[in-house]
Amino acid sequence: MIVVSPAMMQLLSMADRAAMSHIKVLITGESGVGKDLVARYIHSQSPRSAAPFVAVNCAGLTETLLESELFGHVKGSFTGAFRDKRGKIQLAHRGTLFLDEVGDMSLRMQAMLLRFLESGETQAVGSDQPTTHVDVRVVAATNRNLRDLVAAGQFREDLFYRLCVIQLEVPPLRERPEDIQALMKHFLARAGRDLKFTDAALRLFLAHRWPGNIRELLNVIEQLVCLSATGVVDVEDLPAAMRRGPSPLTPRDDRRRQVADNLFDALVKQGASFWDYVYPMFLARDVTRHDLRELVRRGLKETRGRYKAMLTLFGMSSGDYRRFMNFLAAHECGVAVREFRGAKTSEAPSEMPPLYSLPTDSHTEPTELAH
Ligand SMILES: Nc1ncnc2c1ncn2[C@@H]1O[C@H](COP(=O)(O)OP(=O)(O)OP(=O)(O)O)[C@@H](O)[C@H]1O
Ligand SMILES: [Mg+2]
Repeated sequence: MIVVSPAMMQLLSMADRAAMSHIKVLITGESGVGKDLVARYIHSQSPRSAAPFVAVNCAGLTETLLESELFGHVKGSFTGAFRDKRGKIQLAHRGTLFLDEVGDMSLRMQAMLLRFLESGETQAVGSDQPTTHVDVRVVAATNRNLRDLVAAGQFREDLFYRLCVIQLEVPPLRERPEDIQALMKHFLARAGRDLKFTDAALRLFLAHRWPGNIRELLNVIEQLVCLSATGVVDVEDLPAAMRRGPSPLTPRDDRRRQVADNLFDALVKQGASFWDYVYPMFLARDVTRHDLRELVRRGLKETRGRYKAMLTLFGMSSGDYRRFMNFLAAHECGVAVREFRGAKTSEAPSEMPPLYSLPTDSHTEPTELAH
């Protein structure tokens, strides 16, 4: 873990102190700032370091699966439970249980988790055996504001206090520019490539807002490592969003445009495929519905309003048409094609009917990076 900035040094020294005790730690911060690494760091510095560190992602699983993931299940307790499975809580015995994206748990799961935290007892789904006592240290993380969720009745206040005795807020990369060059060096060394940067290019690295934080920096470095033929990176080698420099747009619009720009570049200029590149990021919530819609808009602009042509543009096969359209419809990311079709191009009747687009300030997108 690369740490140079005073802000991160201070955070790590708090993490050191927390690691030595049994105190409950909640790690917060935007997506990609390194919450995962901080959780692992706490485990490694704690007296439990020889025992397992077990991470559970509380988002993106159905309630049944999350329950079984945490508590385990016995064979036949639900469709698909073909054999007995131990829960992650049991696997973390004497070690650390890392509850990632804890703000995304349903209220029912929150109640079950609270029961466990209060009693230390767990029981596998479908089991009639007595409960077993487990000794785990819980570290939780979220990129959502749990206090807001508590106020909105979506997160239990009692659970919040159970999880958060101290809060470690990992600052966004733009607030600790001292770390940028050290991280660049580290990622380059890891990739085994010694790229040089011109002064102008380096200035853009330092001025960029890094909406996707360290994960974004890592992606940019990986792209450059892969694409640079000369070993010297100049301004024109950088992704469009960085080349433009910080824009006068509001941070939120700015971020959206940058994300869509980066995605579009990766698909269209670097030949990445939508399913391998964008889709996993969407599922991991690194890309929001707004980002996706913005990307679709860019695609439609390029193809003059043709979804079918977008398949090739975004590295998909023509047989993926249904899957792609269903995916967009399911996440309300379809964009009406009318404005993208010039007067000369006639509407092709075989195309899907124009999809609707939601108002852009809908509150229901999967992840909102707060600025
Ligand atoms: N200080 C650091 N030094 C080296 N690598 C880092 C550092 N911080 C983050 N990274 C790398 O950046 C990527 C994102 O970090 P991480 O997964 O910990 O972020 P996160 O805050 O958990 O994000 P999310 O909210 O999306 O889960 C990882 O590949 C991680 O290894
Ligand atoms: Mg994480």
